Amino acid sequence: MPTKARGAIARSPGQPVHIEEFMIDDPGANEILVRILASGVCHTDYGVKMGVYGSDGFPFLLGHEGAGIVEKTGPGVTNVSEGDHVILAWRAPCGSCRFCRAGKPNFCSASLNAQPRMKTMQGEQLNPVLGIGTFCTHTVVHATQAIPYPASLPAAQMSLIGCGVMTGVGAALYAAGVEPGSSAAVFGCGGVGDSVIQGARLAGATTIIAVDIDPQKLEWAKDFGATHLVNAAEQDAVAAIKEITGGNGVNYSFEAVGSAKTLEQALFCRDLAGTCVFIGVPGPGPTLELPLQKFFDLGGNLCVSWYGNCLPTRDFPMLAQWYEQGQLNLDGVVSRKVSLEETEDAFAAMERGETLRSVIVFD
Ligand SMILES: NC(=O)c1ccc[n+]([C@@H]2O[C@H](COP(=O)([O-])OP(=O)(O)OC[C@H]3O[C@@H](n4cnc5c(N)ncnc54)[C@H](O)[C@@H]3O)[C@@H](O)[C@H]2O)c1
Ligand SMILES: [Zn+2]
Ligand SMILES: [Zn+2]
Repeated sequence: MPTKARGAIARSPGQPVHIEEFMIDDPGANEILVRILASGVCHTDYGVKMGVYGSDGFPFLLGHEGAGIVEKTGPGVTNVSEGDHVILAWRAPCGSCRFCRAGKPNFCSASLNAQPRMKTMQGEQLNPVLGIGTFCTHTVVHATQAIPYPASLPAAQMSLIGCGVMTGVGAALYAAGVEPGSSAAVFGCGGVGDSVIQGARLAGATTIIAVDIDPQKLEWAKDFGATHLVNAAEQDAVAAIKEITGGNGVNYSFEAVGSAKTLEQALFCRDLAGTCVFIGVPGPGPTLELPLQKFFDLGGNLCVSWYGNCLPTRDFPMLAQWYEQGQLNLDGVVSRKVSLEETEDAFAAMERGETLRSVIVFD
């Protein structure tokens, strides 16, 4: 029997979301229906709603950072059971693409999703963001997108592991491979950037420089492990980072804003042979002109990281355990809890810089 759900739907670029009922067909083979308990509001949802990543694909069912309870399982599902608490992942390696076959499932090029099964009451096909859709009471996903977590842990905090926290922690641990005793600079201290800071702390970096243009964000960054703060609205960020690091620059820099200016700063605040990890999603607009000799002379690496190069089946349980053991601060990332009806308020608060994460919670 189809399920009637309610969710935040973006119908056209730049317009406010509609809170609407929609219908979900029963899960097919290897699919599950999930009742959402909590969903973080990631900047990427805002970009989708605003049409930053293109005007194709509307209407979208927003949200991709969610935790919930498995309510129905389709034929063939073995990795989860009805009643399990799960975090949803937007990477579920297929096992057979060229990357999976080469033993690199974290770069899977054919990540598994449910078949399109969600329709508006007018019969339009809904496009769930990143193949999930979590600003809603229920969603349908491929079973391998669901990673169980202990029901005793709070859903709001767990939901954040599904995107922002994993992206940031993974960028430090896996994309950069931060080494003990090293130095790092993080541009953009939102939910993602503060998670990079936590990842760098957990990996043993001893100098962690938070860079933002918002004094409140810098203040919060300290709670996650930043050892130095640079307000890029008031000072030259690259010069300040050089000064903090004895004139050398950092071993690792992370761009978690999505702008050309911050990427350029992240490239040139590095020490020789340093690694720059580009995390922010720029959209199609920005371009960057680079002084190539200066770039060459620094050596090192520039890499883009999607989802912190993570493997959800391996990494989500680890982050949940780190939270349980008090090593990973997720309570501080949950700035406020809101209802589905307050989705637009959550976007506005993000734009005003008032939150690291608003989390939409369902009773
Ligand atoms: N690569 C991935 O897999 C992935 C996953 C999730 C999110 N993202 C992207 O990461 C970025 C950050 O996401 P978020 O949810 O943390 O967003 P956010 O809005 O919470 O944080 C962005 C931060 O950047 C700061 N900022 C803006 N301009 C700046 C500047 N010139 N210098 C320094 N700081 C500046 C803001 O004050 C804010 O604190 C977004 O672009 C998002 O789309 C990427
Ligand atoms: Zn996200
Ligand atoms: Zn694959």
